[in-house]
Amino acid sequence: MLVSSKEIIQKAYDGGYAVGAFNVSNLETLKAVIQAAEAKHSPVILATTETIIAYAGLPYIFALLKSAADLASVPVAIHLDHGKSLETIKKCLDVGYTSVMIDGSAFSTPENISLTKTAVQLAGAKNVPVEGEIGKLGAESANFADPIEAKDFAEETGVDFLAPAIGSSHGIEIDEKLDLDLLARIREQVKIPLVLHGASGVSNDDLKRAIKSGIAKINIHTDIRITFINGLKEGIAKFPSTDDHREILKISMAKVQQVVENKIELFGSSGKI
Ligand code: CO
Ligand code: CO
Repeated sequence: MLVSSKEIIQKAYDGGYAVGAFNVSNLETLKAVIQAAEAKHSPVILATTETIIAYAGLPYIFALLKSAADLASVPVAIHLDHGKSLETIKKCLDVGYTSVMIDGSAFSTPENISLTKTAVQLAGAKNVPVEGEIGKLGAESANFADPIEAKDFAEETGVDFLAPAIGSSHGIEIDEKLDLDLLARIREQVKIPLVLHGASGVSNDDLKRAIKSGIAKINIHTDIRITFINGLKEGIAKFPSTDDHREILKISMAKVQQVVENKIELFGSSGKI
């Protein structure tokens, strides 16, 4: 069933586990994520970026996600990942997303606050929760979120969830390390659920510790893309002369489902419906 992200993320935050937000980009990745969540009896967040919206077209991708959510036996939220403009936010709110992220991390903090505040007002009118981001992702500690700035940001903007930069990167970098001390200090200051981006390259140990320190939503994107492509390669090698592409896509789907099931176990959301 389609639910608000607020409902499942707050429950995860209170319960000391995290809900996975998995980026989907086609029928196969979508079905893989839903089947994994159903197999694990876990709530799940379907995430789409502006890039996939541009690729598929908003009405197409939303119709697919909405059908999946309606038919699913577990709670499913539909989330805009890294909304860069209020235009995108408005379009996603109009079509029926159940949470949106406004990513003002490219701007100065005052500009990020002002942009995020407007997004919160727009989404608030539809009772849709908003995720904000502070600091810049990557290993450069000068760009990490500052605890006091994070607290001010959360209070001034009224966001429901906050993604602080604490050392992870989009994509998979070698030896990504989270600054878990910093995360603990942020949690002392910020009293809303925290979100981890760029989690594909973070070790399982760090992820577990991060969840203990208030990370209640974890984004997984790169792992799905790599796994999907590996499945295609395997499928083409296995069925070199097939005229049925679905034989190949099924292999990708099964592999992505397995990866998502493993993440769900790791995040602790298994059985939490
Ligand atoms: Co079952
Ligand atoms: Co991200």
